[in-house]
Amino acid sequence: MSQPNSRYPVIVIGAGGAGMMCAIEAGKRGRSVLLLEHAKKIGGKILISGGGRCNFTNLGATPAQYVSQNPHFCKSALSRYPPAQFIEQVKNHGIAFHEKKLGQLFCDGSAKAIVEMLESECKKAQVEIRLDTPVARISPVNPTSGSGFLVETATEIFECKSLVIASGGLSIPKIGATGFGYRIARQFGLKIVQTEPALDGFTFLGETASLCRELAGVSVDCMITTQGVSFRENILFTHSGLSGPAALQASLHWSKGLPISMDLCPNQDLMTWFRDKKREGNTKLIYNLLSELLPARLSEKLCGLFLSSALPLPQVSEKSLEKLAQNLHAWNLFPDATVGYSKAEVTRGGVDTQELSSKTMEATRVPGLYFIGEVVDVTGWLGGYNFQWAWASGWAAGQVV
Ligand code: FDA
Repeated sequence: MSQPNSRYPVIVIGAGGAGMMCAIEAGKRGRSVLLLEHAKKIGGKILISGGGRCNFTNLGATPAQYVSQNPHFCKSALSRYPPAQFIEQVKNHGIAFHEKKLGQLFCDGSAKAIVEMLESECKKAQVEIRLDTPVARISPVNPTSGSGFLVETATEIFECKSLVIASGGLSIPKIGATGFGYRIARQFGLKIVQTEPALDGFTFLGETASLCRELAGVSVDCMITTQGVSFRENILFTHSGLSGPAALQASLHWSKGLPISMDLCPNQDLMTWFRDKKREGNTKLIYNLLSELLPARLSEKLCGLFLSSALPLPQVSEKSLEKLAQNLHAWNLFPDATVGYSKAEVTRGGVDTQELSSKTMEATRVPGLYFIGEVVDVTGWLGGYNFQWAWASGWAAGQVV
């Protein structure tokens, strides 16, 4: 077997949010930590997150906003490292931030401030960071005794007692996402929950695809429901399908073959509204009337879809109005797929939580091997929840490695 060039108690692979948090916490405990990153800079995803302002946590983060085969798994880490703890760090570093909506905290300035904060904490904790260093191979020092790992890069071999995989998921390959973490999990015989792009919106086939293309650029407040979970925010029609926060949220919960149902007038009882307008003597063409509630292009398209002709309101029968109202309150579409990894904010699925300790993130069957952050089968909703999981799971492992 090859001899290591150097030994570290802890090696962390991946300098994203989870990996840096873990390295900092372990370093604070006096552990000597090597953090390996194959990209040329740290925190690549943090830099592009939240439209460049990083939605770094959510004030209301609870286990209820996470999707996993085991919804209980995330409870321990989230409760021991709540949003308040990260916010305190952000304040200590003098980073200005604000709540945009729904508990979502964003930097006032650039996301770079969060990366600089983590980098300076790494420095304080004497974490050694090596950039541009892909890991070629990992092997157990002694497969039977579980006494550590050899980590091989192109030029060196390192030995460590604790090995933390924080290499993230598959979303946005062009900034360094790889399937590395899943490969290592499989190498050690750990189960993987099927991975899929999520928080990416929907694509459609046939007429629905054409409809979305024709409506590209139209955005509307909507209640979107799939698999019994509902979100009320905007949707945005695009050349490739449906985007916007409500559609992104729904894409985390949707499964192939199921519909998404959209209430395009969630604040109105449409039938009552139509009747009131009729009583008031309104004579507008139906799509012009509806454009008081919906963007004009959308209103016209929907009336074309759900009514046989574009008549003035007094000439539209009660039955036709009921059909229109019903469809606008529950417009069911069948997506073909979600948009894919090139646009996905996260990867759903990952290392099966059954394989990990919820307290430490250590693989129960492979002592010394830890998985944290997005590579684990814990996926948060849109809105700062995924970073909160990265911080919390990284913190949990950092207390014990
Ligand atoms: P992350 O992917 O951040 O880090 C993994 C690191 O490992 C990367 O630096 C990668 O280069 C490295 N790596 C991979 N393979 C390697 C290998 N073989 N060897 C060495 N290094 C390797 N979330 C949120 O809460 N609020 C937000 O505002 C946003 N916004 C957002 C925007 C966009 C465009 C995306 C794509 C994602 C978001 N997210 C988000 C999601 C969030 O970015 C994500 O959940 C976390 O970054 C996950 O953190 P991790 O540290 O687990 O992985």
